[in-house]
Amino acid sequence: MQSPNVSSLSFGTLPAPPSPDGPAVGRLPDLLDDDVVAAWAASGAPLFELLRRAWVPGRLTGFRRGGRDAVLVTHPRHVHQVLGVGGDRFVKRTHRARPLIGDGMIGATGEEWRSQRKLLQAPFTGRGIQRWEHHIAGAARVIADRWAERARTGEPADLAEDAQFFTVDTIWRSLTDHPLDLATYGDLAGVQDIVAALPADVGGGGELPAPAAAALAALDARMHRAIADARARHTAGAAGTGLLFRLLDAAETDPRYDDRLIRDELVTLLVAGYESSARTLTWVFVQLDRHPEVAARAAGDPAVIEGVIAETLRLYPTGWLLPRQAEADEWLDGVRIPAGTDVLVCPYLTHRDPDVWPDPDAFTPDRFPPRTPPPPGAYLPFGIGPRACLGTRFAMREMEVLLGALLPRFSIAATAPAGEPVFGLNLRPDGPFLARVRARG
Ligand code: HEM
Repeated sequence: MQSPNVSSLSFGTLPAPPSPDGPAVGRLPDLLDDDVVAAWAASGAPLFELLRRAWVPGRLTGFRRGGRDAVLVTHPRHVHQVLGVGGDRFVKRTHRARPLIGDGMIGATGEEWRSQRKLLQAPFTGRGIQRWEHHIAGAARVIADRWAERARTGEPADLAEDAQFFTVDTIWRSLTDHPLDLATYGDLAGVQDIVAALPADVGGGGELPAPAAAALAALDARMHRAIADARARHTAGAAGTGLLFRLLDAAETDPRYDDRLIRDELVTLLVAGYESSARTLTWVFVQLDRHPEVAARAAGDPAVIEGVIAETLRLYPTGWLLPRQAEADEWLDGVRIPAGTDVLVCPYLTHRDPDVWPDPDAFTPDRFPPRTPPPPGAYLPFGIGPRACLGTRFAMREMEVLLGALLPRFSIAATAPAGEPVFGLNLRPDGPFLARVRARG
């Protein structure tokens, strides 16, 4: 499947401001009442609940909390203006995952971000992507062998864990050229405890609780060992295709790439590269269990697999919230957005807008590929604009290869219902997804 993001869009320019004293975001007609916001704050409910209350499909809405204005952006035209056309002006604030990713690319801004992205662009685009094919195939074989054994014994298992092992394995091979062993997996998978301890809300911060801090220390030790190992091979003139080698190459000419920045970039690629893909694959397994007729069709047709992935990403975009901030005073559809306003783009709600996606809550993989492409900003599981996902094609390829290896051979039958969606840093089902796999007859 062609990556459904930036490539097909033209970014143009932001429309000119209508008048310097037009209505500001604080006067929006649909702005949520302060007492609703206060009741939400008192309830301790997650941010998503507030956004759901504020949402009026097609309209620019918002709310005021803690003395700050926030505007909720869900209409495709507004999404396109913020992330596409205005991608350089509506900027990322301090990233919620900063304690984990440090100065890695996802949280960087300005010139720092531009040069980091440029360095890593080639292996993720064009023919560069082919270099990962054997790593992805190797990691898929590990899971197919697991499932063959399970089909033999009939034992149920956590398919969310399989999805996670697979995506950590593919990204680890692609970083270091080594397959994943269990001890390394233990240290890398600790990331999920750290992610769970990070604030799900925008602008949160503070100290990590002790178990997450211990997981971070184990992760750091593992990363520094990997850097030392790769440096020894690099210095000895060994050839390597892994991204770590690329970062060590950069370190030879660019003094900014010291071990700390290399560690930050590795952790960023690890976290960005495995979390979203693992959660998406888990949602795919959940959907295939709920829709065995789709699973049967997907078993024999790669085009159906592509539709299943695309539709799952529509219903469950793991990047369900893309927070930005207006750097200077801006305008959106005639509404003044004062500098510093939180601008909350919410792909989850955009993907459920009934004017854009008929019967939006239904799982209908045959929507994809759409006969006419959706308007810019209507479908953005990988974001859009300059900060769109670097790993879109990598992610699509790894998911297609794994499902292409599993679905023709196995069916899935849940032994307990999947958990409710959790709108944390990522969108994931709560708890494990326990299921039996059976060999297809
Ligand atoms: C299904 C899987 C994936 C999904 C749904 C996903 C989604 C996203 C989204 C929505 C963004 C944009 C965030 C924003 O605008 O604030 C993003 C950024 C990013 N993703 Fe992914 N991603 C996936 C897999 C991957 C993989 C496999 C990699 C690397 C191997 C990766 C690397 C990155 C990086 C480095 C960025 C930051 C780009 C930048 O700031 O310039 N992602 N991803």
